[in-house]
Amino acid sequence: MSNRILVTGGLGFIGSHTVVELQNEGFEVVIVDNLSNADEGVMEGITAITGRLPVFEKFDLRDKDKVEAFFSKYDDINGVIHFAASKAVGESVENPLLYYENNLGVLTYILQELVKKGSAHFIFSSSCTVYGQADSMPITENAPVKPAESPYGNTKQVGEEIIKDVCKVTPQLSAIALRYFNPIGAHPSVEIGELPIGVPQNLVPYITQTGVGLREQLSVFGDDYPTPDGTCIRDYIHVVDVAKAHVAALKRLIEDKNENNYEVFNLGTGKGSSVLEVIHSFERVSGKKLNYRIAQRRSGDVVQAFADTKKANEILGWKAQSTLDDAIQSAWDWEKKIRDYQEVSI
Ligand code: UFG
Repeated sequence: MSNRILVTGGLGFIGSHTVVELQNEGFEVVIVDNLSNADEGVMEGITAITGRLPVFEKFDLRDKDKVEAFFSKYDDINGVIHFAASKAVGESVENPLLYYENNLGVLTYILQELVKKGSAHFIFSSSCTVYGQADSMPITENAPVKPAESPYGNTKQVGEEIIKDVCKVTPQLSAIALRYFNPIGAHPSVEIGELPIGVPQNLVPYITQTGVGLREQLSVFGDDYPTPDGTCIRDYIHVVDVAKAHVAALKRLIEDKNENNYEVFNLGTGKGSSVLEVIHSFERVSGKKLNYRIAQRRSGDVVQAFADTKKANEILGWKAQSTLDDAIQSAWDWEKKIRDYQEVSI
């Protein structure tokens, strides 16, 4: 059986870290990326870490003919990890059709190719956003899926449904949806990391950019939530742990260890951290005071979300290893490197 894995969006943040872990485990990776939110220089970072250059095919998966041609050219693909998608909540509200086309149209094209194959293994990037504000913490995979707050969130819910429906009638296809909580950090080698375009919407890149002086001040969106310090709680997980979970999920399918041909797992640490705790972690690892102020709540934010990790730990045989400080340290080291930031010691 071939060892060749297609990683769509493999030059993006989570994709590139997953390519590294796949190559470290001996898989042959083919990356497809349209570079809409990624940099080709990431190829060098991946090669520096693993000593191997992955194959890279640059095209847009919205081109159905190209998707078909790709699967004809690489007819021995044994697994697909599908990261390629748009992921900005606000942008999805402004431009819903872009999200439905990128995140769902493309998904159907890939599944159409996979159902033609004798056997296929598929890993899907889902999100804890499918739970909305869950009724109890920690959140298990059995928690109800709540109405989506945005077209982006809707694409993750509907994406899961599409895969489930296709698996039902396609026994030779097996799939796992991984519901990410909040992936952060960078590879400890600082060869690859997050490269947000423009002003970051997410907390950790905003903090590290403020740390190097690229942003003046972080706004903490609300301190009057019903949490111990009044700020929202999330489950921040090191991106390398997230990447390793993809390899564990893929192996589960390839080795035929899955119980059903469609399964879902949470990817989190199980520990919730407030916005202020993340800021304090940054201050601890960087030795710097962060310039921040308390601002209005951001619309659409849930109060808290952290994972019950039992299913992933016991069934997938995977557990997050890094602490919040480890992850923030790596994010900070990466930010300093890409900005060529020199520490000033007095
Ligand atoms: N936050 C701030 N200031 C900022 C940015 C964020 O206070 O400048 C706060 C947010 O209000 C939230 C927390 O930091 O309480 C985390 O915010 P992020 O934007 O980093 O992460 P979210 O949990 O809001 O978003 C993540 C993913 C989305 C996904 C969403 C819901 O990035 O793709 O979870 O699952 F839709």
